[in-house]
Amino acid sequence: MLRRGELNKTSGARHKQSELTGVKGPLDTSSSTQEKPLLELHGLSTGYGETQVLWDISLHVMHGEVVALVGANGAGKSTLLNTISGLLQSWEGTIVFAGRDITRYRAERIAKLGLVQVPQGRRLFGGLTIEENLRLGAYTNRAGSARAIAADLERVYMLLPKLCERRKQLTHSLSGGEQQMCAIARGLMARPNLLLIDELSLGLAPNIVDDLLTAIDNIHRQEKMSFLLVEQDVQIALERAHRAYVLEGGHIVLSGPATDLLKSEKIRIAYLGA
Ligand SMILES: Nc1ncnc2c1ncn2[C@@H]1O[C@H](COP(=O)(O)OP(=O)(O)O)[C@@H](O)[C@H]1O
Ligand SMILES: [Mg+2]
Repeated sequence: MLRRGELNKTSGARHKQSELTGVKGPLDTSSSTQEKPLLELHGLSTGYGETQVLWDISLHVMHGEVVALVGANGAGKSTLLNTISGLLQSWEGTIVFAGRDITRYRAERIAKLGLVQVPQGRRLFGGLTIEENLRLGAYTNRAGSARAIAADLERVYMLLPKLCERRKQLTHSLSGGEQQMCAIARGLMARPNLLLIDELSLGLAPNIVDDLLTAIDNIHRQEKMSFLLVEQDVQIALERAHRAYVLEGGHIVLSGPATDLLKSEKIRIAYLGA
């Protein structure tokens, strides 16, 4: 089992950056010269009706990287994830995924490319079993055949064995942690290259959150998948991610290696109560 923070030691080296920076654009330029990011946002803004919620957001996620997006309630984190995954249109800016400009793509087409969101609040079908929910997650599955879906189910059950034991159980009767695990598993069924997870820890006991994060560490190592973790719990996110972005009032105000952010006085005062 990985201990907290171990991800940083194992694979964060190429994202090293000496200083935290107040941000106008993506900061980690050292990596972009060697390898193209999996996801890139440039100058993104959006909102609801007349109300602007996000301003000039630029960020990136490299292949195999775990990136955290942290910020207080109402900062615009879910709005940003929904814009990336095509549920909400951007007003300005571009979103590039795996070298392709997906800014105007619809959500289903984006999911088919391997950019998959686990939504805040899990949104499972409570009257269906775990396995039925997982099968629904395969609707964007790029292989698509019954055999491929059966193989993916097996793979997901190997990664998350607790779900296999309960696969015939209706999801409304699961605990919060089990529901979150099921929501992550449903995301995995779509064969993502990048999984966006919105508020993994919200409403869950610390030991359950640890279990879920350990499962994510395992998936990250075994599947070489990238993650964008959105969290109000800044400590949890920074302990697990390679890099992080801090969103305040719809602006990215800080970014850098997660270990540096954890030590930053600004972060400690504003988010960690220290
Ligand atoms: N569907 C919506 N319609 C109008 N305003 C919204 C909607 N969803 C979120 N907002 C507003 O956008 C802002 C950011 O919300 P959200 O993205 O949910 O923040 P976070 O996920 O960081 O808590 C808040 O002021 C919220 O009230
Ligand atoms: Mg949210």
